Amino acid sequence: MDSIEIEGGYPLEGEIQISGAKNSAIKLMAVCLLTEQPVELTNMPRLRDTRFMGQLLAHLGVEVEEGPGARMSLHAKTLSSTTAPYDLVRKMRATFNVLGPLLARTGAAKVSLPGGCAIGARPVDLHLKALEALGANITLDQGYVIANAKDGLRGGEITFPFISVGATEHSILAAVLAKGESVLNNAAREPEIIDLAECLNAMGAKISGAGRSEIRIEGVSSLNGVSHKVVPDRIEAGTYALAAATAGGKVKLTNLRHDHLGALWPLIAQSGADVSLKADHVIIERETGPIRAVDMDTQAYPGFPTDLQAQFMAMMTLSDGVSIIRENIFENRFMHCPELGRMGANITVSGREAIVRGVKSLQGAQVMATDLRASASLINAGLVAKGKTSVGRVYHLDRGFEHIEIKLGQCGAKIKRVSDGS
Ligand code: UD1
Repeated sequence: MDSIEIEGGYPLEGEIQISGAKNSAIKLMAVCLLTEQPVELTNMPRLRDTRFMGQLLAHLGVEVEEGPGARMSLHAKTLSSTTAPYDLVRKMRATFNVLGPLLARTGAAKVSLPGGCAIGARPVDLHLKALEALGANITLDQGYVIANAKDGLRGGEITFPFISVGATEHSILAAVLAKGESVLNNAAREPEIIDLAECLNAMGAKISGAGRSEIRIEGVSSLNGVSHKVVPDRIEAGTYALAAATAGGKVKLTNLRHDHLGALWPLIAQSGADVSLKADHVIIERETGPIRAVDMDTQAYPGFPTDLQAQFMAMMTLSDGVSIIRENIFENRFMHCPELGRMGANITVSGREAIVRGVKSLQGAQVMATDLRASASLINAGLVAKGKTSVGRVYHLDRGFEHIEIKLGQCGAKIKRVSDGS
């Protein structure tokens, strides 16, 4: 199994181009199920998760082709199956989102309950309630969701008891072809939701309010093909911004939307790094000097993203004081704490809070990635730790970060991928 080895202590100097957003790309891929015409996605990241989604779509009968220049074409002219089997769904939770589009297109679908990152229970009850509100008949059988809508889905009103990105996207994907109007209340407002709605609207859907708490969808009878550019990955951008703020140096980030990270920049600035936001790039610079302790709590967008919590914590392990980090989205997302502890960090977890007492330095160690974003925090810690850090179970990292060792290596990090040949 591959690992990533880092010789810490070298500041980052250079430029990093941000890829298309993983979390948007995999939902945009599911869009192809809603039309018989070709769908082309550009600015597509090449990741394990997009490959998993491609494998599932191919199983359903979609022609999936990866072209040059971060292009992917998807053509669901006809579907050969409406069953998404366990082996393909368990690898990545977001594959579950094919249920709504399959149901909308064919009136029936059988999709395995998902797996995904080990960051809490992560049920799909909101997804199922939303599909029921759109007229689906749902039963569970041996780990599968069996859904039917013999006369097609119909518009409905869905009020989410709390914000869910996946359930909001899933509801949109199902409601676009339903008969009549749907209203989503307390919808998620993430940029990926806007990206999905823009893509669907370009195909002829009638979605208004994406990016706000109330989304309205007037169902249409069919959708056209489209060519759509995937929004830049705000989590990848935030990860490299935090890498620079943690390791020191000066890094220019390009191909990003800095307005999608409005909750991050003030906290990086409060920690003592310089943040310069320009129309088409961002520069993060930290000269020598202490990392100041800053408290943070994760929130749904536009709050601080849970997907950057671990990377922010890695920076706070070296602060000049005590930082309280609160995780409000997932109930079990502190698995990186013991691994950071192996590198000398002083972190006490109490329920949803982590108390991070800054230490003078971290030491390189052999550590294990536990989930996708936790892996990135270990890399960031390794960049600044004394000596060698080896991050194992890199497959987590490969799910969501395109060429991380190349991008950081280009900025002077001593980082390499090591394969043990297994
Ligand atoms: C998406 C992102 C993930 C990010 C998360 C929150 C993708 C592929 N993943 O995950 O990277 O960390 O948003 O920004 O886009 N919940 C339920 N029942 C449900 C659905 C969710 O209880 O039916 C709970 C979850 O367990 C969690 C909370 O709601 O505690 C928020 O989850 P949600 O926003 O749905 O996250 P995902 O869409 O899975």
